[in-house]
Amino acid sequence: MGLDVRAWVHDEQVAPLLPNQLASGLQGSQILAIAGHVKRLRAEGRAISNFTIGDFDPEQFPIPRVFHDEIVAQLAAGQTHYPPAVGVPELREAIRSFYDERLGLDYPEGSVQVGSGARPPIYAAFRTVVDPGDVIVYAVPSWNTRYYVYLCGAEGVAVPTRPEDGFMPTAEVVLPHLDRARLIVLNSPLNPAGTMIAASVLRELCEAVVAENRRRVAAGKRPVLVLYDQVYWQLVFGDREHHTPVTLVPEMASYTIHVDAVSKCWAATGVRLGWAVAPPPLIVRMKSLVGHMGAWSARAEQMAAAALLREPVRVDPFMGSFKGALHERLERLAQGLTAMGAEGLPVRALEPQGAIYLSARFDLFGRTVKGHTIDSDEALRTLLLEEAGVAIVPFSAFGYPEGSGWVRWSVGSVSLADIDAALDRLRTLLR
Ligand SMILES: Cc1ncc(COP(=O)(O)O)c(C=O)c1O
Repeated sequence: MGLDVRAWVHDEQVAPLLPNQLASGLQGSQILAIAGHVKRLRAEGRAISNFTIGDFDPEQFPIPRVFHDEIVAQLAAGQTHYPPAVGVPELREAIRSFYDERLGLDYPEGSVQVGSGARPPIYAAFRTVVDPGDVIVYAVPSWNTRYYVYLCGAEGVAVPTRPEDGFMPTAEVVLPHLDRARLIVLNSPLNPAGTMIAASVLRELCEAVVAENRRRVAAGKRPVLVLYDQVYWQLVFGDREHHTPVTLVPEMASYTIHVDAVSKCWAATGVRLGWAVAPPPLIVRMKSLVGHMGAWSARAEQMAAAALLREPVRVDPFMGSFKGALHERLERLAQGLTAMGAEGLPVRALEPQGAIYLSARFDLFGRTVKGHTIDSDEALRTLLLEEAGVAIVPFSAFGYPEGSGWVRWSVGSVSLADIDAALDRLRTLLR
């Protein structure tokens, strides 16, 4: 046995004095707290269908076999030394050719920053563009943006959205803040809503950004940039089309930072590989940030992804069945909830458009159900989990106003049988 240091590392007087102000003010993820609740109930032997985490159960959704085999082959071939901080040239080149082929965007060399998932490029983008006190405009509900706002010491302007717009921002709510904004954060398909921004809305926003920036740049002022988080863009259902700021308004290439990853589209959240595509003068700066964090992706994974993004037809069969299975689950849920609504039960769902999420609203506020008085989103979440074994995340965990009754369902870790069982238990509860 080594030296027991438990008493020292948990010293109650010392502990609160250890972190700095920035770290002390950081909020933990609410979703992780909910995961603890799910775990407790499962340990008691309760049947729980877990729709909370934006992740995949590898038994339901393994990564593409070709990706697995390539990673193993690259490791065996000795791809184990430091990759460059900006990403291996093979992968940066493959991402450029992939964007050219699949998104119709021909970016020059030097436009790609690779990282261990989408998060390091996102963080690097914020830190490269935003100074303390700068204004960041983003819509709610949104994934994690407010944490990055906090980390930058920026002023966050959270603009409200409406279910009838698929919880996407409109020009009407964004443009009043445009003259003060340094960064606008957009995400489509959207976590948590599973919806997509309409091309007309995105175009209108981008045209306004371009007009604003012509004025600013002529006056020697810093332009407003758009961080476009498109990590779910390959998970779009039916004949819907994904648009980017640049495909709609080419001049936006000067002002757009695309963020992307294999995490969601290849069910590879634990593989940790993502990237940003942006103007090379920004990438040069982001490279230094990612380099100092050491937040690069493992070399073998980069080489493996390069081989597949260079020849995306090798992953197409996987994409077809993966997307089909996600869509089937989301549709099964949406139809089940919609059928309950048609029976007069207090629930409705939005049509799933993309990503791995479904939005639904429970109209239970002010009621008391099985001893639970529903006076907050947390009370609603607790009711659904404890009385129906249905674990979901309220939109308020994504910065949406408290008390809306809107919740996110994630289908990356559930089977069709889990969904059917959850719908049955929910119907019984709501009746
Ligand atoms: C919209 C969005 N962007 C970025 C990320 C982060 O992706 P990664 O796991 O590649 O860091 C997530 C993960 O949930 C996400 O939902």
